[in-house]
Amino acid sequence: MIGFGNVGKELIRLFAEPKPRFPALVPDSLTITGVVTKSHGALYNPRGLSPSAILQTYRQDAGFDRNSSDFYSGGVLELLSGGDYDILVELSALNIRSKGEPAFTYIKQALQKGRHAVTANKGPLAFHFKELRELAKKRNRLLLFESTVMDGTPVFNLIKHGLRGASVLSFSGILNSTTNFLSELTERGISIDRALESARAKGIVEADPSDDLEGWDAAAKTAILCNVLFDSEITPFQIPRSTFEEIFAKDIRRSVEQKLRWKFICEGTRVKQKIHASVKLTPVDESHPFYRINGTSSVLRIEADSLAPLTIVQENPTVTDTAYGVINDLLEITDS
Ligand SMILES: NC(=O)c1ccc[n+]([C@@H]2O[C@H](COP(=O)([O-])OP(=O)(O)OC[C@H]3O[C@@H](n4cnc5c(N)ncnc54)[C@H](OP(=O)(O)O)[C@@H]3O)[C@@H](O)[C@H]2O)c1
Repeated sequence: MIGFGNVGKELIRLFAEPKPRFPALVPDSLTITGVVTKSHGALYNPRGLSPSAILQTYRQDAGFDRNSSDFYSGGVLELLSGGDYDILVELSALNIRSKGEPAFTYIKQALQKGRHAVTANKGPLAFHFKELRELAKKRNRLLLFESTVMDGTPVFNLIKHGLRGASVLSFSGILNSTTNFLSELTERGISIDRALESARAKGIVEADPSDDLEGWDAAAKTAILCNVLFDSEITPFQIPRSTFEEIFAKDIRRSVEQKLRWKFICEGTRVKQKIHASVKLTPVDESHPFYRINGTSSVLRIEADSLAPLTIVQENPTVTDTAYGVINDLLEITDS
């Protein structure tokens, strides 16, 4: 497992829950052999690390205890190439400027070594989906990423298993929880600094908050949806995006009086072979299906050729939902 931040810790916390609480959530066949961070150390033991010991040996500032017999001081690539593991769980931070690196290299290396890969990290898929998908196919391994777009809400599983034979024509949605949450607080007159503090406390803000505020996270999610649903190779750099700052140029008080809400709407459409995608700050009124999507809630509306529009809403997900999405992917692998 690479990354022991909000999602990584929550995943291990769920693994550490006594079995009766979630009897079917963590299969007995799963063993954690390694946990790696960027600057907080790493643990590795091919015989397995106990989830509760992983939590206990980690200190908020100091990271993993260097005196632990499982402390690992080698490099990530060495571990990926020589370590004992069947599945890479990649939960490192989003990195837009480096086009999803180094997570892309980590996932590529694991697949090349014949391992499955599960990730919640948008970068590698937003910039390199096709290459990773082809590699996974060539090596006959699974590449799963349910938590990348809607915090673990089954989007790709729904499309893959629930919309067999249908072609998706377009999608629209509110996919960045941070800006949706901040917009609501701004409408209520709360200062941006306080609103951001509150979003951070929920563990939903990206490691670099400008990824949320400048629309990169939403653009990355839009790119992933286009690449998976339309077989495109669009990157976040090609998607026009609104930034959060644009909201301050709007007359929020007047909008509230007029019962209008400002939403960051992600859209993607395929017309013949051409893809149109955007992330746009849009006013919606009470009749719009996205009007009541507030807080950290997210929504995705899908139009397909053979059925009426389908809308999925997740109400105020937390980091537990993201960790659950990762477990859902792990279960798909252990069940396969
Ligand atoms: N938080 C959410 O609700 C949510 C929802 C959906 C998707 N995601 C995605 O899930 C991923 C993890 O999110 P998070 O909130 O857990 O992030 P986070 O709290 O910032 O934690 C990131 C973790 O990755 C490690 N890391 C960063 N760069 C690395 C590198 N080059 N090599 C090895 N480890 C590295 C960090 O190490 P240090 O501890 O040393 O800094 C940290 O442990 C992100 O890609 C995010 O976009 C998050």
